[in-house]
Amino acid sequence: MKHEVIEKNVMLLAVLTVVAISFGGLVEILPLMNDSSANTPAPGLKMRTPLEVAGRDVFVREGCYGCHSQMIRSLGEEVLRYGPASQAGESVYDHPFQWGSKRTGPDLARVGGHYSDEWHRIHLNNPRDVVPESNMPGYPWLAADHFEPGEVPSMMRALKRVGVPFTEESIAAADKEVAGKTKMDALIAFLQSLRVPQPDPVADASDATSKPLPPGGAP
Ligand code: HEC
Repeated sequence: MKHEVIEKNVMLLAVLTVVAISFGGLVEILPLMNDSSANTPAPGLKMRTPLEVAGRDVFVREGCYGCHSQMIRSLGEEVLRYGPASQAGESVYDHPFQWGSKRTGPDLARVGGHYSDEWHRIHLNNPRDVVPESNMPGYPWLAADHFEPGEVPSMMRALKRVGVPFTEESIAAADKEVAGKTKMDALIAFLQSLRVPQPDPVADASDATSKPLPPGGAP
């Protein structure tokens, strides 16, 4: 039997296994590369400000993604709890994206605007001060930590290299924008930016495709 030949030849089995798995992967990955909904910025998506870029770096550095996803799935109960489902076009400026898959804490993709900056400050310092049953760790040191000159511009330059269209002027102005801000300030600015992209009604009026996402996300 042909199958027996494959099963008794380790090298052949290994090669055919790799071929089978690669085929499965390519069938999923290749069409996405040409799918404009996956690589075109969502209507109204803004590039992050230097302070938000810096805050995102803190989010990654501190491993917040280990407990928090940033991807709302298009399931009824998710949309009811968190808001409109996440669209691929919302993450085109995020390298690497922070979708995550672990939810010890709630999803954060729509947390922007839910709480005041002051709430976040108290919560990040010691979560139990606002949510007594919380098991999230505190991050008090972020309030005493600043950015070195050149640190945020280099983050932006790295993002530019992988396709985020920051202008040289905005990169040059970044140090001034984060001067005097703590890592806590930056992280809060990033958290407040996590929301459904809002098309600018004036600038986007001529663009018929720029409609806000309907509740529950795009069809
Ligand atoms: C060990 C797991 C864990 C880690 C790590 C963690 N969190 Fe949390 N987080 C939680 C849990 C659990 C909650 C829900 C209880 C609460 O509000 O404190 C939460 C709640 C939150 C909330 C409120 C969300 C809402 O919708 O009410 C925010 C914002 C948040 N975390 C941000 C962060 C940030 C930023 C970091 C990284 C600096 C972080 N978390 C790291 C577990 C974690």
